[in-house]
Amino acid sequence: MSIRTICCIGAGYVGGPTMAVIADRCPQIQVTVVDLNEARIAAWNDPDLSLLPVYEPGLDAVVGRCRGRNLHFTTSVEPAIAAADMVFLSVNTPTKTRGVGAGQASDLRWIEASARQVAACAQGHTIVVEKSTLPVRTAATVTAILEAAQGEVAGEAQSKTFSVLSNPEFLAEGTAIRDLEQPDRVLIGGEDSAAIEALAGIYSQWVAPEKILRTNLWSSELSKLTANAFLAQRISSINSIAALCEATGADVQEVARAIGADSRIGAKFLQAGPGFGGSCFQKDILNLVYLCGHYGLQEVAAYWQSVVELNGWQQHRIARLVVERLFGTVTGKRIAVLGFAFKADTNDTREAPAIRICHDLLEEGAQLALYDPKVSEAQIQADLGEGSWQRSETVLEAACGADALLVLTEWAEFRQLPWPELAAVMRKPAWLFDARAICDAEAARAAGLNLWTVGKG
Ligand code: UDX
Ligand code: ADP
Repeated sequence: MSIRTICCIGAGYVGGPTMAVIADRCPQIQVTVVDLNEARIAAWNDPDLSLLPVYEPGLDAVVGRCRGRNLHFTTSVEPAIAAADMVFLSVNTPTKTRGVGAGQASDLRWIEASARQVAACAQGHTIVVEKSTLPVRTAATVTAILEAAQGEVAGEAQSKTFSVLSNPEFLAEGTAIRDLEQPDRVLIGGEDSAAIEALAGIYSQWVAPEKILRTNLWSSELSKLTANAFLAQRISSINSIAALCEATGADVQEVARAIGADSRIGAKFLQAGPGFGGSCFQKDILNLVYLCGHYGLQEVAAYWQSVVELNGWQQHRIARLVVERLFGTVTGKRIAVLGFAFKADTNDTREAPAIRICHDLLEEGAQLALYDPKVSEAQIQADLGEGSWQRSETVLEAACGADALLVLTEWAEFRQLPWPELAAVMRKPAWLFDARAICDAEAARAAGLNLWTVGKG
């Protein structure tokens, strides 16, 4: 089975870059990305490639090469589905906010709606690929919806048939194009070997065969949630040890280096900090917790729940510690918060540790001066609401009159700050709280600042 046309439903953070790379690597395949959101599609079609709706290094070049050739963005969903040999479902699956499972389970209304659309519009045989991160056994729902339409006669054409595959995406923000072009692995779950080989054939255009893993549907769906849960668990684990280091005189970076040298543990994802943020980790673990509860595995649910709880604890701990060091009160004191994004090199603030830490400090009466090179005032406003905070244009402006600097995002510029200049404009005794352990501690101390570093004290 050779694939000539692909339709991707959902032109978001996952669908857009993934389809752009497939189109780039497979010039013989026509790839159409559809979305109901007209503004988003217009942005994907903008002649100015700096205005694409997703910012990822290298994405503009890939889109520039393929758009109009074999990569198309449109709001015309039905004809694109009808023409497709393969349809990717790449729609949003946020956490439910109401009803059963609110706050934990995924809201599957967009997956169901898109599956129904495929059921209605597809012609001939169509391979349907789940790209969104989904709860285990969602493929059963998708299959049930598609099977109800199977055998129906589409116009004068032949009856329609479907195969469902799971092909989760592992890309991280800021490195999406590299993660897509040089993946550690590609995961394809399914029961229909012809469909699996058709999708594997696409990836094999640029991915080594041994990196293309084939599993059953449920293993594939579960592996995505598990990968994110394990990554998040490492962060909670190292953050728990950071607190113990601060209490005992150990240094968490030295401990991380020592344990990371063990090839069974590995050196990556052992950077202590203010806790994990981003759109995936918390959402996926809560989803896992909900699934475990659903299957009666309360101890397993509690185990993974504790990873999220430790993350929240770390954030409150940092806010509390700032208050304690500033003589037990921050009422009316100016604190310069350096970094608001959930990690460096993105303007994304979803679940950013800065949000919870700033809320705690505002609750204690602090006046916050927030500096982030990429996050806009409107975004901070959306995250913090009204309160005694303001956005500063530079680190120096934020530091003016401040009692403390609090580093929450690992932006490169925070590695080499002009310490004597900053110390000169701060109120004494002045503090640096380095929750990412990236600042030049000696230079800050030499400039007269008191210092607290995560995992060092
Ligand atoms: C993550 C996964 O990496 C990706 O595979 C999945 O598809 C989506 O979720 P992303 O959310 O973009 O990607 O960010 P990631 O780089 O994984 O960082 C997540 C959070 O963990 C950030 O807040 C980051 O600051 C924090 N982190 C990461 C640490 O605190 N310490 C580390 O050592 C690594
Ligand atoms: P992700 O980060 O998983 O890519 P996003 O929220 O960025 O998620 O993108 C999902 C996209 O899917 C949104 O742009 C949304 O408009 C689109 N979408 C959701 N349901 C449908 C549907 N039934 N048909 C077309 N597009 C849809």
